[in-house]
Amino acid sequence: MKVLLIGSGGREHALAWALSASPLLTTLYCAPGNAGIAQVAECVPIAAMDFDRLVGFAKEKKIDFVVIAPDNPLVGGLWDRFEAEGIRASGPSGKGAILEGSKGFVKDLCREVGIPTAAYQRFRDAASAKAFADTLGLPVVIKADGLALGKGVIIAETKADAAKAIDFMFEGGFGESGSEVVVEEFMQGEEASFFALSDGETVLPLGGAQDHKRAFDGDKGPNTGGMGAYSPAPVLPPSLQQVAMDKFINPTVAAMAERGRSYQGVLYLGLMITKDGPKLVEYNCRFGDPECQVLMPRLKSDLLTTLIAMRDGQLHNLDLRWSDETALTVVMASKGYPGAYEKGTEIRNLDAAAAVEGVQIFHAGTERRDGRLLAVGGRVLNVTALGKDVAEAQARAYKAVDLINWPGGFCRRDIGWRALSR
Ligand code: AMP
Ligand code: GLY
Repeated sequence: MKVLLIGSGGREHALAWALSASPLLTTLYCAPGNAGIAQVAECVPIAAMDFDRLVGFAKEKKIDFVVIAPDNPLVGGLWDRFEAEGIRASGPSGKGAILEGSKGFVKDLCREVGIPTAAYQRFRDAASAKAFADTLGLPVVIKADGLALGKGVIIAETKADAAKAIDFMFEGGFGESGSEVVVEEFMQGEEASFFALSDGETVLPLGGAQDHKRAFDGDKGPNTGGMGAYSPAPVLPPSLQQVAMDKFINPTVAAMAERGRSYQGVLYLGLMITKDGPKLVEYNCRFGDPECQVLMPRLKSDLLTTLIAMRDGQLHNLDLRWSDETALTVVMASKGYPGAYEKGTEIRNLDAAAAVEGVQIFHAGTERRDGRLLAVGGRVLNVTALGKDVAEAQARAYKAVDLINWPGGFCRRDIGWRALSR
C-alpha cells in the first residue's frame, strides 16, 4: 500500500516509524516531514494546510491510505476532502473533530451526557464573561473556543488578569477562535492523558501517558507544547483507565453518533485527577505530541492495519497487543523555546545516542543541509527509551541525551519525576 502521512513533528516521526514497519506498506510519503522522517519516508514539501495540493498529490501517486496527524487539518476538514475524492483516510471528519475545534461544544456535551468537568459558561461578549468570572474563585480559567496554536487557555491568577484575558480574546487576540469564550472553574490536581481509537461504534483503549507542559525542571516556567512524557503512567492505573472508558470515552462516542457526528478517529482525553475523582480538561482529535512518541514504541500490533480498521469500522475484529515495558521521552528544544530561539544551530553525535540500548530518537524540528543536521524548530528532538520501568527508561533516555552534542539546545532533567516520587 502507498501511504501518505501528514505532519512534520515528533509525533509524525513516531507514526512514520511505526507505519514503516507494516508488512502492508510499499511506499510511505510524508508531507511535509522533517530530517528524521526522511529516514523512513519520502518527504514531500507540501504544507499540512495546503489541502488542494495534498489531495492533488494523493491522486497523482494513487495513494491508498492517508494518515492525518495534526489538529489543524483535521478540524479544517481535510479528512472530508480526501474521502470526497474516494481516498481513504484516518479521521476524524471535520464534524467529529469539533471535539477539539470547539471547547464550548465539548463542555455542553459533558453537561448533557453527565461527564464530570469544571463548572463553566460560554460567552459572546466581554461584559457577561467578566461578570461570570467574578462569581468563580481564583485562579479562573479563560479559554478561546477554537484552535489557537495551543495558546488559547489562560489561567488568570487575579480578577484583573481574567478581565485582560477576556478583552484580549474578544478583541481578536486569537482571531476567529476567540469570538466565543469559555470561562471555567480552576481544577486542582494531577493531569494525565488517555488515548483511544474509535471507529464510530467500537472503541479500543490505547492506554495512558503523562506529559510535562512546563519548560523547566520542577514544572516551572512557561507552558510549552510538552517537554517529555512517559507511558504507561502510574497516575492512571487500570481501574482509572476503566473509568476513563466508561464515564468519558464511551458516552462521548455514543453522544457524537446521536448528534450525527459519528466519531472515527483517535480520541485524546485530557484528565485532571482531582480529589473528587477524574474530570475532563479537554478532548483532542489526534495523538498527543509528545505522548505519541511513548505510545508507538509500546504498540506491538501493526499500526497501519489498526488505522485502516478504524477507518473501515472494523475495530471489533482487532485485539491490540502492547509491550509491558515503559517508554519515556525527553524533548530537546532550542534554547529560548517557547519564546524566541535561534534557528539553524547544528546537532552532532546523534548516531551514538541512538545506539544506546532501548533508545529511539524521533525528530521534530530538524533539517539536513549539506550533510549537517540543523535545528529549525522550537521542539527539535524526542529522545525516547524503553525500559522495564520508569527509572530504567529514564536512565536510558538521559544516557542518550548526554551523548548528543548540541550547544544550542536544552531539555528538562526530571522527566518522569511524578511517577518516580509516588
Ligand atoms: P487545554 O488547551 O484545554 O489543554 O488547556 C491547556 C492546559 O491548561 C491544560 O493542560 C491544563 O494544564 C490547563 N487547564 C485547562 N483547563 C483547566 C482547568 N479548568 N483547571 C485547571 N487547569 C486547566
Ligand atoms: N501534549 C499535548 C498535546 O499534544 O496537545
